[in-house]
Amino acid sequence: MTQELAPDVHDRSAGRPGEGTGGAGWWRSAVIYQVYVRSFADGNGDGIGDLPGARARLPYLKGLGVDAVWLTPFYASPQADGGYDVADYRAVDPMFGTLTDADDLVRDAHALGLRVIVDLVPNHCSDQHEWFKQALREGPGSPLRERFHFRPGKGAHGELPPNDWNSLFGGPAWTRVTDPDGAQEEWYLHLFAPEQPDFNWEHPAVRDEFRSILRFWLDLGIDGFRVDVAHGLVKAAGLPDIGRNEEMGLLNTQELPFFDQDGVHEIYRDWRRILDEYPGVGVPPAGGWGRIAVAEAWTPTLERSARYLRPDELHQAFNFEYVMAGWDAAGLRAVIDETLRAMAPVGAPATWVLSNHDVVRHPTRYGGGERGLRRARAAALLMLALPGSTYLYQGEELGLPEVTDLPDEVRQDPSFFRDNGQEGLRDGCRVPLPWSGDRPPYGFGPGDSWLPQPPEWKDLSVEVETGNPASTLELYRAALRLRRELPGLGDGSLSWLDSPEGVLSFARPGFVCTVNLLGHAVELPVPGRPVLASEPVAVEGEMVRVPADSCVWWAV
Ligand code: GLC
Ligand code: CA
Repeated sequence: MTQELAPDVHDRSAGRPGEGTGGAGWWRSAVIYQVYVRSFADGNGDGIGDLPGARARLPYLKGLGVDAVWLTPFYASPQADGGYDVADYRAVDPMFGTLTDADDLVRDAHALGLRVIVDLVPNHCSDQHEWFKQALREGPGSPLRERFHFRPGKGAHGELPPNDWNSLFGGPAWTRVTDPDGAQEEWYLHLFAPEQPDFNWEHPAVRDEFRSILRFWLDLGIDGFRVDVAHGLVKAAGLPDIGRNEEMGLLNTQELPFFDQDGVHEIYRDWRRILDEYPGVGVPPAGGWGRIAVAEAWTPTLERSARYLRPDELHQAFNFEYVMAGWDAAGLRAVIDETLRAMAPVGAPATWVLSNHDVVRHPTRYGGGERGLRRARAAALLMLALPGSTYLYQGEELGLPEVTDLPDEVRQDPSFFRDNGQEGLRDGCRVPLPWSGDRPPYGFGPGDSWLPQPPEWKDLSVEVETGNPASTLELYRAALRLRRELPGLGDGSLSWLDSPEGVLSFARPGFVCTVNLLGHAVELPVPGRPVLASEPVAVEGEMVRVPADSCVWWAV
């Protein structure tokens, strides 16, 4: 059960968009909620989530207590990779609504005091993008092909790919073009699906085009960008072979000629100048901290990630080391220390995240079932107590597990198809949210949802969990409320306190967080007054019994 006692606190919530906390920028402490648009809420009954659906649910997000919303791609797209294959960067796909719907959503969000971050996909576009269609039409040697990476093949008849790079979705990162007469000609590079040709960022037209795309959305009033595959834009000169043939995963952290090349930083310095030209929406704080960009950059080390966050580059980067850490005290403490150490020299806030639309939901990663959920609840309290900013993935506030038994015929993730029927990696975390009612689609929309929802989800809907003090939703609500109220949380630092092995305990101003990662309860001295706990805790005099796999917040 969630244990909450009203703390004596003052409200230091940031207020309207554009007002920084402590003059340092709203994003340094922000809790940012990821809306995977096609699975959040369906406004028109076609079974697919959309912008009007999301707009109608903004009050829910306000009530949950988050600061900002990140919307996954809703641009015109054939949906070969859930919208990460963009055919027109300035148009909303009819499946998701219209540009007016986007505008209305942004304005409603701002009226509620929520900021809006949109996804930007600069590494590749869709094979249905006008530029790529033109490039194919014009044929080999055309300057229009230089905006992408076209190359003749190797071998006597060009029948072999130009180099040995593999796609992150499996198979070669090259596809050979068949011209209209059926003849085979050049190959083009795609780090992801064949429907996602990589842009050539050495080409000035590509740079100009993205400057203009940034301005288009900034002019519409969005508060920031989540930069997809931010580490991939620049490829090593000459596209050199890697020299070994191995499977690439999204979680890849080795050095590669197509990831984390030094040249990407020049692009982000350029973008930062554009972002800084725009005042924050609402009342601009000194220094123009209004609009931000967060990098999706899988790099070999946290130091390499910090390079994207130098003061003249981007504002935040996702902390994938934290996603990958297991339920283990020493391992988690090491990642936390390493993160804070890596971010300090560049002055960037740490970010924390447990789940997103590309990974197995964390209650399942932590063992699944009741134990997985207990750990997930404790992990949420731990994460929300750490210094910096936090990303939440839709549905984690309900304690949703991964759906592991989706039938093959409903799967849509291209990594599933490319891997020839291996475990589909990413559909199970993208199942539409249960909002209300006792049968699918559980209030997701008026019609059947694009992926089926499990029958057990009737007990995990927003409606069922609301008002139930033992629910995960009420735990998140209480935690987010306290996070706003307790001045020691959000941006800042922490100091570790002595604790037995398997237990983590740290202090922040006026606050202590204790996490027991062991499979049994531990007796500890009481550090203060309990204000929130992921499981019922028993305080007896000077001692507290902290249950297995649980977390307690204390006011001191
Ligand atoms: C990012 C996205 C992922 C997508 C890939 C290609 O990793 O998060 O969903 O498939 O980029 O755009
Ligand atoms: Ca819809």
